[in-house]
Amino acid sequence: MKRGMCPGTFDPVTCGHLDIIERAALLLDELIVAVADSPDKGGGPLFTLDERVALIEVATSHLPNVSVQPFDTLLVDFAKKAGATVIVKGLRVVTDFEREFQMAALNWRLDSKVETMFIMAIPEYMYLSSSAVKEIARHGGNVRGLVPDHVATALERTLGAR
Ligand code: PNS
Repeated sequence: MKRGMCPGTFDPVTCGHLDIIERAALLLDELIVAVADSPDKGGGPLFTLDERVALIEVATSHLPNVSVQPFDTLLVDFAKKAGATVIVKGLRVVTDFEREFQMAALNWRLDSKVETMFIMAIPEYMYLSSSAVKEIARHGGNVRGLVPDHVATALERTLGAR
């Protein structure tokens, strides 16, 4: 029984995240999408932790072996507590590599029993990020196709209320 963990801030979840989650779910018996509180990232997330979890729950409802959980501890501690032995991350353009390499090395240093595994983003989503999606949405651009429809609606509602 192989349980993995796909961690991130997911502010908000994109079609690129979902592609990685779906492909990881095929390789593992169980996958936990671990949503980090990340209060300090980029001036603070747009969506609350509960909102981010709920958006991913809807987006992954068709995947029976995927669950979504929030966390605000060290990732390796959360993985250990949840019984996950693999951390799955998506890799996009080369600029991801340095940061991901650093996180994988530090996580290994913290707990070498938890392995980090990378799945390459497909070309269509190679340049897609939550930050870019928020920037497009903030300026009234169309994000349909970059995020699931319910996330696009949540972006319109949240940014419109500001
Ligand atoms: O989507 P992100 O922001 O790239 O995800 C980064 C995340 C949440 C996976 C990373 O910041 C993390 O693991 N945070 C939890 C705290 C932790 O364990 N930090 C040490 C890892 S170097």
